[in-house]
Amino acid sequence: MTFKKKMLCIGAGYVGGPTMAMIAHKCPQYKVTVVDINPKRIAQWNSGELPIYEPGLDEIVKATRGVNLFFSTEIEKEIRECHIIFVSVNTPTKTFGAGAGMAADLQYWEKTARQILRNAESDKIIVEKSTLPVKTALAMERILTSGNNNIHFDVLSNPEFLAEGTAIKDLKDPDRVLIGSRRSPEGLRARDELVEIYANWVPSDRILTSNIWSCELSKLVSNAFLAQKISSINAISALCEKADADVTEVSRAVGMDNRLGSRFLNASVGFGGSCFKKDILNLVYLCQYYGLNEVADYWKAVVSINDYQKERFVLNMMNAMFNTLAGKRICLFGFAFKANTGDTRESPAIFISKRLLEERAQLIITDPKALDNAKFDLEGLEGAISYIEDPYEAATGCDAIAVMTEWDVYPKLDFKKIYDSMTKPAFVFDGRNILPHKRLFETGFNVFPVGKPPMTHF
Ligand code: UDX
Ligand code: UDX
Repeated sequence: MTFKKKMLCIGAGYVGGPTMAMIAHKCPQYKVTVVDINPKRIAQWNSGELPIYEPGLDEIVKATRGVNLFFSTEIEKEIRECHIIFVSVNTPTKTFGAGAGMAADLQYWEKTARQILRNAESDKIIVEKSTLPVKTALAMERILTSGNNNIHFDVLSNPEFLAEGTAIKDLKDPDRVLIGSRRSPEGLRARDELVEIYANWVPSDRILTSNIWSCELSKLVSNAFLAQKISSINAISALCEKADADVTEVSRAVGMDNRLGSRFLNASVGFGGSCFKKDILNLVYLCQYYGLNEVADYWKAVVSINDYQKERFVLNMMNAMFNTLAGKRICLFGFAFKANTGDTRESPAIFISKRLLEERAQLIITDPKALDNAKFDLEGLEGAISYIEDPYEAATGCDAIAVMTEWDVYPKLDFKKIYDSMTKPAFVFDGRNILPHKRLFETGFNVFPVGKPPMTHF
């Protein structure tokens, strides 16, 4: 079969895999190939067990794989053959040198740009999918134009707004698709080519085009605003606990103001995920670079409140459990950074686990999808840790349950059965406010939600 276009994605991760699967699904006329430097990842994408768990992804991949969606390790060959190249390699926070702990580490990006330059034999459109510091496209252009061949590259920014756990829904029915380009005739032509791809399923009024720097910045700012909303309600949750107010009632009242909106106002043990902290720190670094220290401090506070919220959760546990956790068995309900994903990157559960181990507690971790990642995250830590998939078995003999992830199976459990199997007094610390608190209290538990008065039997 001959395809109308051939496109490539470099980086078969949480973003690259689902995004390209959706393009292949919606555009049977295009051939879509995804490559990665990690052959194991590619083998998983080609197997019956995909490397990431995402509701609805399996069906789409199964329907398109081998038809117009291909996973391969032949990066150089595919660069030669494809006209449009999406780049979705990871850009972690730098751990060394200038900007360590804040700026993005762009080494994979630069390596990828050079690889494209070395292998391209015809003009290409390069699409930035990874979230990047503003003006990365410029750096990319400079690398690509450093060759002395006559090949022309257009660099576009097309940030991804998918959230894990709802990636397929977000891709199928996005709030908006953002495409940033140069204003030159070539830049606009390249932009129109990308618009044409999305127009296969996204209504035209939801495809926004902008200048390339606004586009890169919009992604950082979107994530910073979302995280800021969570840190705001989490800050208020601390006040609610002191002032006998209920944070759920406060967020309901606040969120019904249409100007504010009700989403992202769930107080929690803290936000996690690969993007929020990284993107805010990127924004902070950018502001500092331009000497905007007040602006940098403002955004930095969003991360500080998140750290405070996680530490506060541990201190609340300690305080409730008679000021010592040493030797106590604590069962973590959930380890993923949010429900419906096995991803644990920056999950608050990692911090909480480390702190509980420091306090010499024993950890029993249960999660429907994230136990393998949890084992990897906690590898080498000193202390007693067990991993048990069945929540009933995990809670047996424990002093406390601490909810880390809002998996919908948890509120449906038989808490009478769980209570009977636990050491008394039994505690529940609900870091997601998802359990039926009153019912738990009546069963005998001492219940400590986030941002609400505790319910105790003593
Ligand atoms: C990544 C970035 O972390 C994020 O900032 C961006 O918005 C989208 O891309 P994600 O897809 O979640 O997010 O990352 P990850 O799952 O780690 O996937 C990146 C993939 O790129 C990995 O499979 C890695 O092996 C691959 N990679 C990395 C390459 O193929 N080439 C490289 O040079 C480096
Ligand atoms: C985020 C953005 O939402 C997405 O647009 C972007 O492309 C990538 O980063 P993601 O990190 O996958 O997506 O998940 P998200 O739903 O934003 O949740 C992030 C964290 O915030 C999770 O730990 C979640 O549990 C937490 N959260 C979310 C809260 O604590 N309270 C809320 O009200 C909402």
